[in-house]
Amino acid sequence: MNTCKELAIGITLFLIGVFAQPLDQYQLRCRLCNNARTLSDCMKLAICDNRTEECYMEQVITDAFTSQYRGGCRSITQCNGGTAVATGKRDAGIVCSQCCGYANDCNSRLCGIRQDNLASSLCYFCDDMKSTQGSVSRPEDCITFTACDSDQVCFARNEYSPGSPVTFSYGCQNTFICKLLMRRVFEDMDHCHNNTLHECQHASVLCNVCCGDSGCNYGDCKSITERLYRLHKSGNFNMTTLQTTSRP
Ligand SMILES: *[C@@H]1O[C@H](CO)[C@@H](O)[C@H](O)[C@H]1NC(C)=O
Ligand SMILES: *[C@@H]1O[C@H](CO)[C@@H](O)[C@H](O)[C@H]1NC(C)=O
Ligand SMILES: *[C@@H]1O[C@H](CO)[C@@H](O)[C@H](O)[C@H]1NC(C)=O
Repeated sequence: MNTCKELAIGITLFLIGVFAQPLDQYQLRCRLCNNARTLSDCMKLAICDNRTEECYMEQVITDAFTSQYRGGCRSITQCNGGTAVATGKRDAGIVCSQCCGYANDCNSRLCGIRQDNLASSLCYFCDDMKSTQGSVSRPEDCITFTACDSDQVCFARNEYSPGSPVTFSYGCQNTFICKLLMRRVFEDMDHCHNNTLHECQHASVLCNVCCGDSGCNYGDCKSITERLYRLHKSGNFNMTTLQTTSRP
C-alpha cells in the first residue's frame, strides 16, 4: 500500500517535472509518437504551447524499409519550413511531415497514420488502480490512453471522498454494464430535466459515464454526460454501441 502511494507520488512528480506546462488557455494537446508503427503505439499526449507550437506528425521510412511515425509538439517556425533545410540531409527518409493546430489531438489524422486494432476503443486511462497515470484532480491533466478490450467501451467517473477535492478517473468498462448504466443515467436525466425535486439536486453529486467512440471519455464526467444526453435526445446516440451516430 505504502509502496503504491510512493510510486504514485513518484509518477506525479515525474509528470510535473517532464511537462512544464503552459497556462491552460494556451495548451494544445498533441499525440506523442516515437518510432510508432500505428496510432496504437502512441498512448500519450504532449502538452504544447499554442502561442509558439503546433502538433506535428511525420512518417519516416527507415533503413530497413519499414514505415515509422514521429509526432508531438513542434515550433510553428519549423512547421512553416523554417528549419527544413538544416535537417533535410539527415532526415532523408521523411516521406511526410505535417503540422496542425486547430484542435487537440489533430495530428492523429496526419500523414495517414492508422490505428490497427479498430475493433476496440482507445480511451483515456487515468485510474489509481491500474494505469501508469493515476486519477487526476483536473480532467485536462489526463494524457494517457489505453486500448480497451473488444467487449469494453470508454468510462469516466468523478470521485468524491469527504474532505478531499474531486478526483477524475478514466478507463475502460464492460459494454454490457455500460449499456445498463447509460439507460439509467438518461432515465434519471429525463426525470430531472426540468424538475427541482430534492432527489434531483442530490443526483448531481456522483457521476459515472460510458461512451463507445475512441477518446470520447475526455473531460469532466458531467460535461460528457450532458453532451451524450443531448445527442441521445436528438437521436444521434446509439444505445447498443454507445457511439455517436449522425443522422441526416
Ligand atoms: C490558443 O488557444 C486559445 C484557447 O483555445 C485561443 O483563444 C487562442 O486563440 C489560441 N492561440 C493561437 C495562437 O492559436
Ligand atoms: C419539461 O420540458 C420539456 C421541454 O424541454 C417539456 O416538453 C415537458 O413538458 C416539461 N416537463 C415538465 C414536467 O415540466
Ligand atoms: C446501433 O448500432 C447497431 C450496431 O452497429 C445497429 O445494428 C443498430 O441498428 C443501431 N441502432 C440504431 C437505433 O441506430
